[in-house]
Amino acid sequence: MQDIPVLTIDGPSGSGKGTIVKHVAQKLGWHMLDSGALYRLVAYGSQNNALSFDNEDSIADYAANLDVEFKLVDAGSSSETGQNGQELQIILDGKVVGPELRTETTGNAASKVAAMPKVREALLQRQRDFRRSPGLVADGRDMGTTVFPDAQTKIFLTASAEERAQRRYKQLKEKGISGNLAALLQDIRKDINERDERDSQRSASPLKPAEDAILIDTSESSIEQVVDQVMAICEKNFDVV
Ligand code: C5P
Repeated sequence: MQDIPVLTIDGPSGSGKGTIVKHVAQKLGWHMLDSGALYRLVAYGSQNNALSFDNEDSIADYAANLDVEFKLVDAGSSSETGQNGQELQIILDGKVVGPELRTETTGNAASKVAAMPKVREALLQRQRDFRRSPGLVADGRDMGTTVFPDAQTKIFLTASAEERAQRRYKQLKEKGISGNLAALLQDIRKDINERDERDSQRSASPLKPAEDAILIDTSESSIEQVVDQVMAICEKNFDVV
């Protein structure tokens, strides 16, 4: 197991991790772990099952028995864009999960369940099971510190809170969101600051770079530039062309 290469990419919300991880995993031909999706699924499923966020044991129990399937299906039939004209379909408790998994509301709920040590513990082995040949690119907050401390290469992506807020605002505007845009930007700033605070202040696996992580500030870079930077590191550290 320890021989299977792992590249961890951690960082705060909106640092561009998700997109960069997808591109890098595709170029390397490696598996991908979107650990945030697991916390989102736990939050979303717990809410659907009317579990109280005040009851850590019941949420941890739900997380330990999380009934989720990740399936690649032909494009057009589901929610998430995958590789080669296919989409990643996520089935939770027997039902396909739609775009609601990616909303700010679910992200916020996810950061609440993610602050519960028993929930993190319940998801630990499930995350480690993603380590399969020929390699894994793992995306999250604690991939390099807790889940894969022995990863051969660790990257921590940063970007200023303002830059991350502006990126999210632009994404929403491109999706055609209307209404009071100034208020929307304010809400996004507030949300990012709250989530940063909760993710970095919690006692269990707080958001922080591993001691041996390479820090990359993406504030001034395009996605392509960051992907090239990460690929250059991979070419140096792993046996890949
Ligand atoms: O990355 P994403 O925004 O999907 O993650 C949602 C939330 O899940 C984060 O704000 C964070 O609180 C939590 N999370 C975490 N540890 C991870 C991945 C995500 O605590 N490894």
